[in-house]
Amino acid sequence: MRDPVVQRFIEASEVAVMAAAEPGSPAEAVAREVFGRCRARVGRAQEVPPAMLPVCGWLEEALDSATEGPRRAVADALEAMVDKLEWERRDAADPANRSFYDGHANALILGPGGYEERDDLWVGVTLMAPGVTYVDHKHPPAEVYLSLAPGEWWNAEMDWTDPGMERLIYNPPGILHAMRSGDRPFLALWYLPL
Ligand SMILES: [Fe+2]
Repeated sequence: MRDPVVQRFIEASEVAVMAAAEPGSPAEAVAREVFGRCRARVGRAQEVPPAMLPVCGWLEEALDSATEGPRRAVADALEAMVDKLEWERRDAADPANRSFYDGHANALILGPGGYEERDDLWVGVTLMAPGVTYVDHKHPPAEVYLSLAPGEWWNAEMDWTDPGMERLIYNPPGILHAMRSGDRPFLALWYLPL
């Protein structure tokens, strides 16, 4: 039996992501894979100690950004678990890059070492303070991002793009990519089948 807080988050996520996915698109295929795996089995609830970072002070404002529709339900489901998550900096974050180092936090909801332990998915959340650019990064799995607050995304095949509250961002496997906040905090979820 899955932790009801996680189950609610997954169900709300699936509704919001599938509503935004273009039929037949690679993003839709990735989303189907991720939510299919969520349904197929439940990982054990890992006792990761909750942890916050100073940037988490932006959470409340960021969670208020989605005012209606399926993303509001995702924000509500996420809000119910934010204080159970382990918010961390990216492992490779460079303390010399103060804006990024102090201005971002990630939490893994499902995945290796995540709130639900499993080895076939990464589902997590990124929070950034206003005026922060996430460092360029890449990873082998393809990725779908769902924005819950304003922000822009870039990848090696796409100029900076604001998906708004209607569209998704899709990153093909292995592509170099980044995201940035504007004058408000950034909050987005990521879904990757491993
Ligand atoms: Fe990524």
